Amino acid sequence: MWRVVAPAALVALSIGVVACSDPGERSVVESRSGGGSPDGAALYEESCASCHGSDLRGTDKGPSHFSRVYAPDHHPDEAFRSAIANGSVAHHWDFGDMEPVPGLDGDEVEAIISYVRAQQEKHGFEPYPPS
Ligand code: HEC
Repeated sequence: MWRVVAPAALVALSIGVVACSDPGERSVVESRSGGGSPDGAALYEESCASCHGSDLRGTDKGPSHFSRVYAPDHHPDEAFRSAIANGSVAHHWDFGDMEPVPGLDGDEVEAIISYVRAQQEKHGFEPYPPS
């Protein structure tokens, strides 16, 4: 009896394992990146907007990315990469330091920077220091 039940139970078990091996985590990653290149606007909203504003114009926790001081000739893309990876010690404003933003891969960082540059081009810059 035992000899008959055991293989049957094993078969049932392995069917269960196959049925449960749907890679749930992967689908989260794919939906974040839309299956193609990462969505800079969505990533900005998720990672930066709480301080820099959904409209990029700043909040009481961080400055506007439309400030003239964040134009490419003053804060090149490398400054964005560095701020995300290492944070930034407050030196232009009184909001305090920016902490590093963890959990973004290289492509996601580039997508965020492209999004910010495109918005800057579209909306232009605010004077620095603010008037
Ligand atoms: C918790 C708040 C917070 C979040 C989240 C945040 N920042 Fe900042 N960020 C700041 C503050 C505050 C400053 C201003 C520091 C200063 O006074 O110069 C700053 C400055 C910067 C600077 C300028 C750095 C420099 O070299 O002067 C860049 C670029 C920047 N942030 C990009 C980003 C991007 C991109 C994201 C999202 C991935 C992000 N920040 C998320 C608060 C934040």
